[in-house]
This record gives sequence, C-alpha cells and structure tokens, in this order.
Amino acid sequence: MAQNKTQQHFRRLDVDKEILSVINNGVIILDEQLQIHYYNKWMQLHTKLKEDNVLGKKLYDIFPTINKKTLIRKIKTAFKINTPTFYAASSSNYLIPIKINQIKNSIFQYMQQDVSIIPFEQDKQFVAVIITDQTIMANTNALLQTNIQKVKELNQALIKEKEVTEFQHKQLLSNSRSAAMGEMISMIAHQWRQPLSLINTLIATLKIKKELGVLNDTILDNSINKIEKTTNFLSHTIDDFRDYFKPNKIATKINLFNLFEKSLFFLKSELKQLDIEYTIDINSNIYIKTYKNELLQSILNILKNSIDAFKENNIKNKKISVIVVKNEDSVLINIEDNAGGIKCKNLQQVFEPYFSTKSKNGTGLGLYMCKTIINEHLHGNISIESDENGTKVAILLPDKV
Ligand SMILES: Nc1ncnc2c1ncn2[C@@H]1O[C@H](COP(=O)(O)OP(=O)(O)OP(=O)(O)O)[C@@H](O)[C@H]1O
Ligand SMILES: [Mg+2]
Repeated sequence: MAQNKTQQHFRRLDVDKEILSVINNGVIILDEQLQIHYYNKWMQLHTKLKEDNVLGKKLYDIFPTINKKTLIRKIKTAFKINTPTFYAASSSNYLIPIKINQIKNSIFQYMQQDVSIIPFEQDKQFVAVIITDQTIMANTNALLQTNIQKVKELNQALIKEKEVTEFQHKQLLSNSRSAAMGEMISMIAHQWRQPLSLINTLIATLKIKKELGVLNDTILDNSINKIEKTTNFLSHTIDDFRDYFKPNKIATKINLFNLFEKSLFFLKSELKQLDIEYTIDINSNIYIKTYKNELLQSILNILKNSIDAFKENNIKNKKISVIVVKNEDSVLINIEDNAGGIKCKNLQQVFEPYFSTKSKNGTGLGLYMCKTIINEHLHGNISIESDENGTKVAILLPDKV
C-alpha cells in the first residue's frame, strides 16, 4: 500500500515536470534551503547550465548575487499563507542574472524578470519559482518615460516659443504704431502746407505794404485776424490728429457716416492734389459699437494705400469709392479703387508684417496693423481682392464688439 502511494506520487511529479519543461518560462523547484530539485529547459537554455550540473546544489552557490535572505523569507511566507507570492520586477530587477543579447534600443544588460513563488509540495516544503521575461515591457516602459520627459521638454520649449512670438507680436504692433505716428506727421504736414503758405503770404504782403507806406490799421487788423484764424485751424488740426491716433480704451457707439467724413478731412488735401474722386455711399444712420480710433486708423491705412498706388500708376479717372452695407448684426465696408491693382504674386503676402513694394517709402506694416486691429480688437474680418484694374478691401464688423 505504502509503495503504491509513492509510485503515484512520482507519477504526478513526472507529469508536472513534463508540462514544466515545455512552458515558455523559467521554472526552478527549490526547498526552503534553496536547494535545487528541478531546473526546466527554459532555465537550462537561458543560463547555459545543464540540469545535472545544478540539481542538489544551492541556488546561491550557482548565482552568488541573489539575495538569499529575502528569497528564503518569501518562500516561508508563501508556505505560511499557502498562496503564491509575487515580485513585480520593476525596472532593472531580476532574480537570476541572465545576460541578454542587445535587443534593438534596449537599455538593459540583464533580462528583467517577474518572479512568482508558488507552494508546490507542501509536505516536502518545495516551491516552484516561476520566472517570466519582462525585458521588452520594462524596456518599453523606460522608453516611454524618456519620451514623456522629451514631450515635457518640448512643451516647455513650445511655451517659450509662444512667449517669444507674443513678444515679437507686441513689438510689431509697437513698430506699426510708430509707423502710424510717422504717417500722422506726414498727413499733418499735408494739412499744414496750405495754411502755412497763407500765413507767409499775409506776412509778406504786410511787409511790402509797410515799405510802400500804405499799411494802415484796417489792413493790419484784417491780416492779423486772418493769421489768428489760420493758426487756430493749425492747432485744431494737431488736436484732431492727436485725438484720433490715441487708442481707445472703451468701445463707443459711433456713426459710420461721420467716421468716413473724418477720413475725408484727414486726406482731403492729398486727394485734391492728386485729383482723386472720393465717394462715400453710406446711410447716415448706421451706428456700430466699436473702438472708433482703431477703426479710423485702419480705414486711413487702406485709403492711404490707394492714394500711394495712384501716385505710382498713371491713371486717368482716379476713383476711390466706399460702400457700407448694414446687415442684421454686422456691417460690411467695401473700399475700392481703380489704381492698377496688386500683382497676383504679392496678394498672398500683403497682410504679412514688413511686406512692402514701396522700397523706402513703406514700412509694410499698414495692412498687418489693419488685420491685427480688425481681427483681434474689433472682432471683425478683413479680406482683399485685386485685379489689374484695382483693389477691393472688404471689412466685416460686428455691430457690437
Ligand atoms: N490699394 C492698393 N493698390 C495697390 N497695391 C496695394 C494696395 N494696398 C496694398 N497694396 C500693396 O500691399 C503692400 C503692403 O501694404 P501695407 O499697407 O501693408 O504696406 P505699405 O503700404 O507698403 O507700407 P506702409 O503702410 O507702412 O506705408 C503695399 O506695399 C502694396 O504693394
Ligand atoms: Mg500702407
């Protein structure tokens, strides 16, 4: 009877060994003293040790680097609670040192392992130590970590780049403001030319009359009056320009007809000089809530471009026409000229900062500034169309910003 039981026991162990020899994991059967009772094919293959050379030996004699104490403690625990205990191999973790052939991009020299300790023969205090190769996973994890780090660094770089771009954007706006100042001064110069020459003429006339001895009080008073009026006009012009070139802090309800009248006021001497017909087709009761001065500056930039184009091209009946159409909750402003148009190859670039075909006479910031103001401050949209006859700029604005 006793012999029968032993035979049964061996047979069962044989069947187990049969299975264990073919599985794709390392299996070592150990007792509590870490003596080796079984060493499967996987282990033999990976450690290049034959079973005959390891059976009966202590695991730590063969692999002196293993942590003997911890392993024994884990085995005892497995028996005590009679369930498997696990070691999740974190990166660079292994029980048995198995050198690996460098797999592509691998950062490990030794196979990374998950180790399970399973009570195997309770009465003999045998455990099966199952070793699973986790190198690829650990490697992927490690690569992932480096990539996460890289993404973080890239993110940082992007944030920096964004800051730089914002700074450059501000710089450009400030440059375009300076350009607008220059523009303002040249417009003032235009406006002043006539009244200044009037003052000059009045003074010269007074001098001549005095020398000829025909200067009387009436003539003197009249001339002084005229000079006073003209200097008042000069100073008003300056105030007007200054007021309109200051950015508005708050949006106000404005009448578009009045705004275009104002544009005429700023440009009339130049329009007259070049003999340009300027027509404004707009209902006098269209109101929108917006930043008045920013809108006026944009319109002046666009009108100045038309005037500049007329200076460059010899056109007979020079015309600039403005048509304003009111929609339900927006207005469409069309500004059109017949000044010869923009070359097809340039049309894509006109809104880019510093794009100009006017060599020294243009900063190339005019339309860039218009686009920035209209898109970002006025929450509208600007587009430009052109052919060999002329150019049409369309501005769509919400009736309230
Ligand atoms: N109405 C137009 N007719 C012909 N060309 C135009 C017209 N409007 C713009 N352009 C072209 O677009 C370019 C860019 O215009 P933008 O107003 O941005 O700069 P600029 O007029 O050259 O310089 P700035 O406005 O600083 O004086 C101009 O140089 C010109 O070639
Ligand atoms: Mg311009």
